[in-house]
Amino acid sequence: MTFNPLKEKGLSLEKQLRNWHQIVGNPYKKQKVDCYTRTRQILMNGIEVEGWGFKHQFNRFMPDIDCEDRAVISRIGRIENQQQMTCNWMCPEDQSVLETTLGYEQVAVDLTAWLAQNEPDKYVKETFDFGLLEDFDHLYRYAQYAYMREGIEPDDIVQSQTDVIVGRPTQHHHNCNGLRLRRHYDKKTASPQTKVNILTVLSGEQQTHNFYAEHGFMYGDHVLRETYAEIKDVEEEHVTMYESLIDPSETMFEKLLLHEFTEVCNYYTCLEDEVDDEIKQYWEIFLDMELGHLQLAAEMLKKYEKRDPEEVIGSEIIIPCRFKSQKAYVQKVLENEVDKRLAPDGEYYDSMDEIPEDWASYPVQERVAEISAPSENCINVVEFYHDRDVVAASESLKNKEVALLEKGLQKRAVAHNTVMPDDLQKMIDKHEERKDEKEKII
Ligand SMILES: [Fe+2]
Ligand SMILES: [Fe+2]
Ligand SMILES: [Fe+2]
Ligand SMILES: [Fe+2]
Repeated sequence: MTFNPLKEKGLSLEKQLRNWHQIVGNPYKKQKVDCYTRTRQILMNGIEVEGWGFKHQFNRFMPDIDCEDRAVISRIGRIENQQQMTCNWMCPEDQSVLETTLGYEQVAVDLTAWLAQNEPDKYVKETFDFGLLEDFDHLYRYAQYAYMREGIEPDDIVQSQTDVIVGRPTQHHHNCNGLRLRRHYDKKTASPQTKVNILTVLSGEQQTHNFYAEHGFMYGDHVLRETYAEIKDVEEEHVTMYESLIDPSETMFEKLLLHEFTEVCNYYTCLEDEVDDEIKQYWEIFLDMELGHLQLAAEMLKKYEKRDPEEVIGSEIIIPCRFKSQKAYVQKVLENEVDKRLAPDGEYYDSMDEIPEDWASYPVQERVAEISAPSENCINVVEFYHDRDVVAASESLKNKEVALLEKGLQKRAVAHNTVMPDDLQKMIDKHEERKDEKEKII
């Protein structure tokens, strides 16, 4: 029998307030944590930040609701706030900003790849695939710094579940924000899966943006600070892109219901998949709390709009994301779509030959990288430490790296400090030579 969240009572709101000891639990051990426990923790923090922020927007923008209902919204917001602290503070103090950053980009890659394969709307799927290749490249850029500054190999964090290699080069992610706007779904015909998928990835991207905004300055290395600034700006574009898929005619009560439903679905999935027994207990209690929030949101939709909640969210639980390795899928998208670009009216250019001379993103790219592209400098700098870029991938994928770069680079608006395919090939050759030398000495 399928699980229908609307039929569950959940924990009543009166019982959801927790004490400080319960709010701040024990952090996980970074040396022992399963990489997908970390991605769940990062994602749920993002979902809670969105859930909390939405309650405030709701009360700021809704003049005509009863005082008691406004109080209920603000009390739910308090609970989201407490849940957010618990989720985010599962991070241990010795997990560096760069290590956490690799975790954030692993979330983006493996979440978006899962969503793309489980998305019923073809157009929304296309947008997920497009965003996927950008976060995939962010993971690679940050991996260079993690190695240079802290001696962290990518697999120390991604645990061989996610490939780390060049994607669509970050310098080409900067667009006119108007071009980032995609076509939105129709709320009357869109499946609840589509609605939950988009709200899930949007919450993750928004929190990634916030994390870079609040932590990118914590390193003294100027090129690294600039790289955080550059990638944070792309995450801003990702928020713009994913939120534009949502039907703007959804009412605030409809959105309230969708937010709670998205929380329910994500905690349900976390609970099913979690391998850490202590953390699993949180997913269980938080699912129960969210079922309580969902009931209250459903009642408000009925009361104020005389609508059946099932019309918005259906009658079944949805699985927004099962975190697991998506290497094969990501590689397929990478090889086919690294040269794809944004076109007006929510369209795409399938290859760079289709881009017109007056493309609105050219002036943006030329302006932001007029001195240099920090995301290219990180490859230039790592050469001193490692002879070549730091990658973690199968030999067959590594052998395609230069060709992928060749295909992904635009002819126009290329920053002057760009590592060109020939440069990368030379680095790889040098690395191979040195490896032989090392073996001889040993
Ligand atoms: Fe929540
Ligand atoms: Fe990213
Ligand atoms: Fe992103
Ligand atoms: Fe909630």
